[in-house]
Amino acid sequence: MPKNTNYTAKIPDDQGLIDYSAEEHAVWRDLYAQQIPSTQKYAADAYLKGLDLLDMSANRIPQCLELTEHLMPLTGWSVAPVPALIGFGRFFNMLAEKTFPAASFIRSRADYDYIEEPDIFHEIFGHTPLLTDPGFAHFSNTIGNIGQQVEPADYSWLIRLYWFTIEFGLTVENGHYKALGSGLTSSPTELIYSIDSPVPERREFNVIDILRTPYRIDIHQPIYFVLENIDDLFQAADRDLLADIRQAQSLGLFEPSYECQLTG
Ligand SMILES: [Fe+2]
Repeated sequence: MPKNTNYTAKIPDDQGLIDYSAEEHAVWRDLYAQQIPSTQKYAADAYLKGLDLLDMSANRIPQCLELTEHLMPLTGWSVAPVPALIGFGRFFNMLAEKTFPAASFIRSRADYDYIEEPDIFHEIFGHTPLLTDPGFAHFSNTIGNIGQQVEPADYSWLIRLYWFTIEFGLTVENGHYKALGSGLTSSPTELIYSIDSPVPERREFNVIDILRTPYRIDIHQPIYFVLENIDDLFQAADRDLLADIRQAQSLGLFEPSYECQLTG
């Protein structure tokens, strides 16, 4: 969740449609063409199954309404365009309403491989496939519901559970790491890095540990949490997450594994 951005929101018209330029559609087309073979190799089955169900365009930026039409009968979720930056309060409220907030701009060529702030490629190509799955949809909705129950001062604790799972989570299939998180599946560089690089630390999924782990938004992640079994994430939605946050707070944050902590 970046604190500032050079991008401006694309404003939808009365029908909720956004008018993208030919160059913006071309950025989507090129990202899509690059990520499809990469996700086939590195992404988790749950992601690939969702991508299949959505049948999104390879050649132009899909409209949020098109995604809503696919998601609504599957999980009751919709996708709504929002400005490049929204606060945690609004973010949690939208998840609680089963509405996924999609930053509407698309990255420039300068940010093609890696972009700090979420753009429409990240939101649609990265996030919406998992929202076809009732388990991931319920977990996302739970984060929103819990977000409405915590004080704003506690938002940064709760958001780590979303960050290390829905955004940057890994899983294991047939003994191989696979990418689940939207920040991975939508990044030409970090998708490969998260699976193949010996550099990042890969830790076992543990809710309390995740809540205590600071992160940075502007670098490839130094730590990934690995769901050996995706059901562990779905069961986390049934935990007393308010009590988990209190426990994590009493234990305190882990020391950052990087030099300068920008957020988290
Ligand atoms: Fe995201």
